[in-house]
Amino acid sequence: MKAFIALSLLGTTLAAPTATLQGRDFDLSSLTSGLSALTSGSAASSGSSESSGSSGLSALASLFPSSGSSSGSSTGSSDTTSSSSSGSDGLSSLLSSFTSGSGSMTENGVTQHSGSCKKLTFIFARGTTEMGNMGSVVGPEVASQLASLTGNQVTVQGVNYPADWEGNMSLGSSGGPTMASYVKEALQQCPNTKVVLGGYSQGSMVVHNAANSLSAGQLSGAVLFGDPLKMTSVGKLSSSKVKEFCASGDPVCENGMNVMAHLSYGADAKEAAQFLVQAAGISS
Ligand SMILES: *[C@@H]1O[C@H](CO)[C@@H](O)[C@H](O)[C@H]1NC(C)=O
Repeated sequence: MKAFIALSLLGTTLAAPTATLQGRDFDLSSLTSGLSALTSGSAASSGSSESSGSSGLSALASLFPSSGSSSGSSTGSSDTTSSSSSGSDGLSSLLSSFTSGSGSMTENGVTQHSGSCKKLTFIFARGTTEMGNMGSVVGPEVASQLASLTGNQVTVQGVNYPADWEGNMSLGSSGGPTMASYVKEALQQCPNTKVVLGGYSQGSMVVHNAANSLSAGQLSGAVLFGDPLKMTSVGKLSSSKVKEFCASGDPVCENGMNVMAHLSYGADAKEAAQFLVQAAGISS
């Protein structure tokens, strides 16, 4: 239940900042320092040294007083109202540190194929409520790391699927068939390209679903971030071609309580890209 509330808050966080999301570099450290500045800011304004609860969840919950469903009466101390103004300042700086990194939030390199074949094709499924078809937490950053590692020898496609809460209940079937169809389309356009997949959160389940309907030879690797199904295989891909990133405390891929951990995967983009390049046997 707590995790559900946390994820609802997360959804709010990701869905709200349309204006501030674009064009800034994703930087986990600024995110984290934004959060801790926030928390210490409200402690300072209340003049108390109490370090309350201090899980990412309670810190986040205090940022969204209106969306806390159980908050008819606050369980926190009486400084809740006095800290709310510093809270919203902190909130906007927190939100402005979410970004699409150096890549783009929407990529259609397969569905709008230009005709020039690349060594690698990267197809990515974003997480619940993320925007565009690549989202902003990790997909665009992996794509741009792949471009720099391969000397731009990569075609990138985001999965066009709803990525909504309802679809999240269906364990990936709301996007899996679409993702699988992109794989086949890519191989038809460019029979020698190596197709690798990526998914974040709900998008990881999309990857599992897609891979289940593909043959071993059609896929060369996969990276999954915050994957609820991390204990299950990715279709017929050998486990040596799959890398799971699960941040410590992530409530989605392990039984953690740290919502911020679920937003931290931009920091793994480079390692993920290196893994994919190696799994696909691409040399730049
Ligand atoms: C989506 O569904 C999975 C599997 O039931 C669950 O673990 C996860 O918490 C849900 N929410 C998100 C944002 O992935």
